[in-house]
Amino acid sequence: MEIIHNPAAMTAWSKVERAGGRSLALVPTMGCLHAGHLSLMAAARRRADLLAVSIFVNPVQFGPDEDFASYPRIFEADCLAAEEAGVDVIFAPETEVVYPPGFQTRVQVTGLSQGLCGAGRPGHFDGVATVVAKLFNIIQPQLAVFGEKDFQQLAVVRAMVRDLNFAVEIVGHPIVREEDGLAMSSRNRYLSPAERQAALCLYRALKSARRQAAEGERDCGRIIASLVTAIAAEPRACVEYLQIVNDSDLRELKKLTDTARLMMAVHIGRTRLIDNGYLLSKR
Ligand code: PAF
Repeated sequence: MEIIHNPAAMTAWSKVERAGGRSLALVPTMGCLHAGHLSLMAAARRRADLLAVSIFVNPVQFGPDEDFASYPRIFEADCLAAEEAGVDVIFAPETEVVYPPGFQTRVQVTGLSQGLCGAGRPGHFDGVATVVAKLFNIIQPQLAVFGEKDFQQLAVVRAMVRDLNFAVEIVGHPIVREEDGLAMSSRNRYLSPAERQAALCLYRALKSARRQAAEGERDCGRIIASLVTAIAAEPRACVEYLQIVNDSDLRELKKLTDTARLMMAVHIGRTRLIDNGYLLSKR
């Protein structure tokens, strides 16, 4: 496995490999790799000859009061995990080479970025779209795999690729959960044991919404109200948003349809967790 820090060297590596007729898949990450990432890597591996993983904690997608400084960085352990997962190349640039002095360009996906996480994290998706565009240009993969846990991010990246004609196929990969249902996330390591238990209220909410849908409830307002009440019973939890949206354009739904997806952001103590899932159909 190669480890490349320099963008020009990364592009050169990609060009040489692809000139040999081999296809290249990318899994973009901010490191702190867990089983969810490994499953993205396995999905990418199945679809291409070569697998690149980027590890870059992207400052421009964090707000001023967010956890950029404290975001877990465990580069050595990540390299070992990536090597075991059969990764061919890690791209791990320094912040200063990604955003050198004078950097002044942003990619903005307007509509899809505004609601849900975009409402509570202004500028977050501009930061994501900007760095993903840069990673695509530097690494030049044919396909890239993103987790559905960040469902809005996946939608934003798909829109960017379509609107700016990137020749990269975007593959969404289902959420990987712990045995008790907690969606895997690098931020789960911030949770104390009591908060880890409290965090299960997100998965319980998803299961409750699915149960109500299966029993015939179609009124999204009533489902959301019941979930808000259930989560409010957990003293460590504070809801940022709970919405049922149409999964392609993320518009809020009043009546449940086959394309309905529950989207959640809940703070457990100081840790912000997100989760989501279909309610009626598994599409
Ligand atoms: O999902 C993430 O880890 C990040 O948002 C991404 C896509 C690597 C961009 O920094």
